[in-house]
Amino acid sequence: MIQTVSTTPFDDQKPGTSGLRKKVRIFAQPHYAENFVQSVFDSLEGFAGETLVVGGDGRYLNREVIQIVLRMAAANGFGRVLVGQGGILSTPAASHLIRSSGAFGGLVLSASHNPGGPDEDFGIKYNVSNGGPAPEKVTDAIHARTMTIDSYRIVDAPDVDIDSIGTSRLGDMTVEVVDPVALYAELMESLFDFPAIRAKIAGGFTLAFDSMSAVTGPYATEIFEKRLGAPGGTVMNGTPLPDFGHHHPDPNLVHAKELYDRMMAADAPDFGAASDGDGDRNLIIGRHCYVTPSDSLAVLAANAHLAPGYAAGLKGIARSMPTSGAADRVAEKLGIPLYETPTGWKFFGNLLDAGLATICGEESAGTGSDHVREKDGIWAVLLWLNILVARGESVATVMADHWATYGRNYYARHDYEAIATDKANALMAALRGKLDGLAGTANSGGTIRSADDFAYTDPTDQSVSRNQGVRILFEDGSRVVFRLSGTGTEGATLRVYIERYVGVEGDLAMATGDALAPLVAAAQELADIEGFTGMDAPSVIT
Ligand code: G1P
Ligand code: ZN
Repeated sequence: MIQTVSTTPFDDQKPGTSGLRKKVRIFAQPHYAENFVQSVFDSLEGFAGETLVVGGDGRYLNREVIQIVLRMAAANGFGRVLVGQGGILSTPAASHLIRSSGAFGGLVLSASHNPGGPDEDFGIKYNVSNGGPAPEKVTDAIHARTMTIDSYRIVDAPDVDIDSIGTSRLGDMTVEVVDPVALYAELMESLFDFPAIRAKIAGGFTLAFDSMSAVTGPYATEIFEKRLGAPGGTVMNGTPLPDFGHHHPDPNLVHAKELYDRMMAADAPDFGAASDGDGDRNLIIGRHCYVTPSDSLAVLAANAHLAPGYAAGLKGIARSMPTSGAADRVAEKLGIPLYETPTGWKFFGNLLDAGLATICGEESAGTGSDHVREKDGIWAVLLWLNILVARGESVATVMADHWATYGRNYYARHDYEAIATDKANALMAALRGKLDGLAGTANSGGTIRSADDFAYTDPTDQSVSRNQGVRILFEDGSRVVFRLSGTGTEGATLRVYIERYVGVEGDLAMATGDALAPLVAAAQELADIEGFTGMDAPSVIT
């Protein structure tokens, strides 16, 4: 009953920053998902009889593609597939399941924070046996295979019941439907002081967690409401919906406005947080106090030792290049190394595997540690809670104390969305063309110290990744970074990252917009954003 189906390549299956992401209507074309899944399998060796993990964030097409993956895994010789009940696995839970089950790898079905629904986005990402996203050499091989593929293998069988926990057979393969939450919740309980957090909540500490109708609903309900005793209603939008209730499941100040407004109200809870479509991002807002992701990484790193799982201290900190330098100062004070990697979680995996770093983070609301090989939204929330409980302080006090100790990295990201791809490429090419002449020149942001296109050499395998973003560094330590998004599904998005450091003697209480205004003007000018795109303001500021 194994069928070999003839196919022809699609020329648009190059994995981006985080797997292959496309509109649902593209993924739903005949053979489209099958071609990609077969290209993944064709790029791997030695999985006969081994275990594959599969699950996703529940978005539109999730269940259909899971059935395809199951049939193709059976036809290609996997011995066992572990699938989350209902097709649900958050990205960090998938990572943990791959690691804890000794799986060969996993397919994570998600387009992360992008909207879901028949006219929205879908995605497939392959994760390797360490639980992390496939490194570039694997994604390059997958892409090469998508360009030459001429057939795929699939068994002809009825749909597998993925809603009931238990084991069934599909051809020669075993399918095990597992509880998506239990193992993950146990892992969290092993890292953090649940009794202390529980006691604090019982004593009146209040929190709100917005699951944004996405995958973290069941995880958050189990952990915050059941295990930590927070009252019902603490988890907002806790039922995963295929279209995320028409919302954009991106935990930032634009899309998590409901939470933001609640946290800024007079009767705000003590602590607020949100996660994204697939559960790997986090937004942290204290009562009347928003924490930027870059600052959150720094605070978590500086205080992680207060949580039982990190009591021995950190081996190192890693951050993506566009993430602010706030964590660098913490690393310096702790006397541990700081690694600056390109954008995308896949670059952290080697550092974590080699024991070089313990905590990693990105400015895009991603933080995580060596407990899995993905960023992890609920983990970040629990570490924050553990720190607040151990310090007995509010988010606002912790932040003020952090800046008073390390200085403050004022920071914002400006996204210019839906730019025609040729215009975005022309803007980047023009900017790259003038990099050599910029050092020593001045503009409204100050005098430029250096300008380059970021390249990264992985310290563990010496692999080199080039063209990872244009950096303009100013004499006073301020910085403007330009890069194009690698996760979009239509047109191009220009990301401009703006950062200014103010030392402990300086003004630590400015409004971010005011602190960054001269650099924002410099960025417009340097890249002639309006000239190339016609946009005189960003679409989203985070
Ligand atoms: C974005 C973020 C990046 C993150 C990725 C996946 O990628 O900027 O930090 O790792 O999503 O969540 P980008 O669209 O910028 O390529
Ligand atoms: Zn995500």
